[in-house]
Amino acid sequence: MRMYDLIIKKRNGGVLSRDEINFMIQSYTKGAIPDYQMSAMMMAIYFQGMNEEETLNLTMAMANSGEMLDLSAVKGIKVDKHSTGGVGDKTSLALTPMVAACGIPVAKMSGRGLGHTGGTIDKLESFKGFSTGITNEQFIRQVNTIGIAIMGQTAELAPADKKLYALRDVTGTVDNMSLIASSIMSKKLAAGADAIVLDVKTGSGAFMKKLEDSFALAKEMVRIGNGAGRNTRAVVSDMDQPLGFAVGNALEVVEAIDTLKGKGPEDFTNLCLELGAQMLLCGGVASDEQQAKAMLKKVIEDGSALTKLAEFVTAQGGDPAAVYDTSLLPKANFVEEISAPKAGYISKITCDEIGICSLILGGGRETKESEIDLSVGFVLKKKAGDFVKEGECLALMHGNDKDKMEVAKERFLKAYTFSKAPVEKQSLIKGIIS
Ligand code: URA
Repeated sequence: MRMYDLIIKKRNGGVLSRDEINFMIQSYTKGAIPDYQMSAMMMAIYFQGMNEEETLNLTMAMANSGEMLDLSAVKGIKVDKHSTGGVGDKTSLALTPMVAACGIPVAKMSGRGLGHTGGTIDKLESFKGFSTGITNEQFIRQVNTIGIAIMGQTAELAPADKKLYALRDVTGTVDNMSLIASSIMSKKLAAGADAIVLDVKTGSGAFMKKLEDSFALAKEMVRIGNGAGRNTRAVVSDMDQPLGFAVGNALEVVEAIDTLKGKGPEDFTNLCLELGAQMLLCGGVASDEQQAKAMLKKVIEDGSALTKLAEFVTAQGGDPAAVYDTSLLPKANFVEEISAPKAGYISKITCDEIGICSLILGGGRETKESEIDLSVGFVLKKKAGDFVKEGECLALMHGNDKDKMEVAKERFLKAYTFSKAPVEKQSLIKGIIS
């Protein structure tokens, strides 16, 4: 078999067989297929798509490209959670300690930023010393002792996805349904949890911009997960504007901590409650949504979710002092106000543009090798549907480089659309698939 022939087949709209997909993934994982050929294949898939069977075969080939983690040594029903990615999506930072504080063992594998979206590992590294590079043994021990552990994708776990994820990030091939579904589900299957709750984003800040595509992605992933014997559910949630107010690694950590103190933004708090309820239901500790949400609210009110975050940060080498004093987190040198160019209701915030502005400030990666600046980003003061007066503050921009801030500010303002007439606020939860 030759990779060249497979590229031509897919480029011309053909259907790849299971053997062909296995050959491609195994050869790429061991370095026998170069990045440039795989980039061409990703672009061919991007344009020609894959059918359900190809997507399933790709997922299984990627999951089997490395070791499959055995979590049977962890007591209880292990629940994992994954977001398809968005802007200001700091959900895992607040949600995982909330769920763990309710007694559900959280054994989670997270990723880094991709395209215009942020990643949980980058955000967690805002805690000095924090590392997700833990061994499988440490991971299992930690879930058994404190009920929560987050690991990065090791070289052993779904290594095909690790290579493909970084390649797609810089070749414009992220936003394809089959590639996203196989990327996420291969990792989730390899990471060994019994149940998986997916947060499928929809709107201008999501990889899937249209509601029907997001539902199709959600259904595809639920089908793959349940087919592989994992109890899988998906929540389709709004990403037509940033989630919460903060966008940028350390700024998002502050917002997640505020949420665990009961002082978080309403939309973000509600999303954590909705996803958390699904996790508690999967884990069998609540019998209905209402009971699950009450349990989650309680661990915020009594401080146990915040304590759980501190325990988790400590266990993974981070400085827990920042959980109680967020001024210890990375801070940008400059904070500049961005003001409204005119009065009106905010009718639209082109959400991926806000993610790109954060990337311009240094908060995301331009190339596979880029180092990111954890301190930069934005804190929005107004969201879609809000009224602003001319000159009123739309957002605070945190940056370390005045030139980059100038470019980001211009682009940020172009992401906002204003209307004279009042604008209806969009619903956060679009649907649940179980
Ligand atoms: N998250 C992933 O893990 N993979 C994708 O392809 C997109 C979002």
